[in-house]
Amino acid sequence: MGGAVIDTGHGSGKQYPGKLTCKVLWTCIVAASGGLIFGYDLGISGGVTSMDSFLKEFFPSVYAKESSMTPSDDQYCKFDSQTLTLFTSSLYLAALVSSVLASRITRLLGRRITMLWGGILFLCGAILNASGQNLSMLIVGRLFLGFGIGCANQSVPIYVSEMAPYKYRGALNMLFQLTITIGILIANLLNYFFAKIEGGWGWRLSLGGAAVPALLIIAGSLTLPDTPNSLIERGKHDEAKEQLLKIRGVPNVDEEFNDLVNASEASKLVKHPWRTLLKRKYRPQLAFAVGIPAFQQLTGMNVITFYAPVLFKTIGFGSSASLMSAVITGGVNTLATFVSILTVDKFGRRTLFLEGGVQMFICQIIITTAIAMKFGVDGNPGVLPNWYAYGLVSMICIYVAGFAWSWGPLGWLVPSEIFPLEVRSAAQSVNVSVNMIFTFAIAQVFTAMLCHLKFGLFIFFAIFVVIMTMFIYKLLPETKGVPIEEMTVVWRKHPYWRRFLDDEEHQVVSQRLEMV
Ligand code: BGC
Repeated sequence: MGGAVIDTGHGSGKQYPGKLTCKVLWTCIVAASGGLIFGYDLGISGGVTSMDSFLKEFFPSVYAKESSMTPSDDQYCKFDSQTLTLFTSSLYLAALVSSVLASRITRLLGRRITMLWGGILFLCGAILNASGQNLSMLIVGRLFLGFGIGCANQSVPIYVSEMAPYKYRGALNMLFQLTITIGILIANLLNYFFAKIEGGWGWRLSLGGAAVPALLIIAGSLTLPDTPNSLIERGKHDEAKEQLLKIRGVPNVDEEFNDLVNASEASKLVKHPWRTLLKRKYRPQLAFAVGIPAFQQLTGMNVITFYAPVLFKTIGFGSSASLMSAVITGGVNTLATFVSILTVDKFGRRTLFLEGGVQMFICQIIITTAIAMKFGVDGNPGVLPNWYAYGLVSMICIYVAGFAWSWGPLGWLVPSEIFPLEVRSAAQSVNVSVNMIFTFAIAQVFTAMLCHLKFGLFIFFAIFVVIMTMFIYKLLPETKGVPIEEMTVVWRKHPYWRRFLDDEEHQVVSQRLEMV
């Protein structure tokens, strides 16, 4: 993400005065609406694309194929359509493009303007989708939603971490992931109820519902001031001080203000953060800025988030049971996120990552075996006994819980805490972009994968779960309790990564010797 995310004193052991003021509470609401927007989109499209009335109107060939299927046909391929998946995936491609552009707007015009644009674009997308008359209108609507998400995901986390008193910053960071899961759950629930509306137009309400979080973020950005950090970055020092006094609600903020000015000056010295990020000494951070978001998506979690209803329908559940099962997995996702919030600073990041990996792997193997035994290569279960269906949904829930207390929240938390200030914003942009590219790719190829890999779909992701668990085991140092600006210590102590820093120090020493 662009714009410098400035660490205000947490790493230095300083204790800036500041209260939980109304402005800070409003900030939490903006944070929540940012997460809701993202989550709502993640959760809504799968249910909508499994509704017959929606398919009939926009994807008649998929509908015809699905409804003319006989038990001897290959059930795994009934939803295989690249245009159907484009409906889901196009959003993430647009989000990728706009988050890169938004990083400049955030830096030059402030976080608030980017959020406002995010809300407006998102609202346009919701209106276009709810009133969609043809496929082009739907895809254009999805692109608008994507542009909005790119702006919101780029600016909201920065805005929140700069507005929050340093004591609440960690909690607000996790609040963002929690509201993503709540957004997914609300979307799953609404799909379940709206699908029952007579006349089959409930999908319009599902898609139009996105207007609610859009209005929240618009209201937030119109009523909130820009962050002191951003005002300082743009040379408005007096206004910044005035704002800081108001948001902290205390009479003296000099120490924090001076540190913000110094941090801003220091970050301006790095003229080319992108080029700097490629330096050898930042190789450990770069490896995680790329590896963590890519692996987060390669867990296969979004196969469930996007396509749970389609997946459940494919393996023979009825429409309503499919949507209900998605509600159950969505609920488990939200609840399990609390586990992570409560334990991450006690057990540490590594323990959660490793435990989550093992849990997901075991579930993926069991799910694959269960589907293979009952559905074979043509995906036809005959009559699926209730106990078998319950068992399968339970296994999927345990898998979702494994993700929700490991790669879900940590996929955002760890990258945000390992970068030094001078490359933090550039590295965050890499993190968000890689996440969006992989989200797009998996959304796009899912139905083709299901058609070709059949019950082996989960094995594909299980292989990556093994690789990513090894990656964490071998390469990620524990960052629990390490102040952000002292993070370099963990790389220096690490048996593999320390050579990248040692080399750098070596070079500096030999250059000095040469000069002597
Ligand atoms: C991921 C999303 C995923 C969600 C599920 C987020 O951390 O970035 O891709 O759908 O978690 O809860």
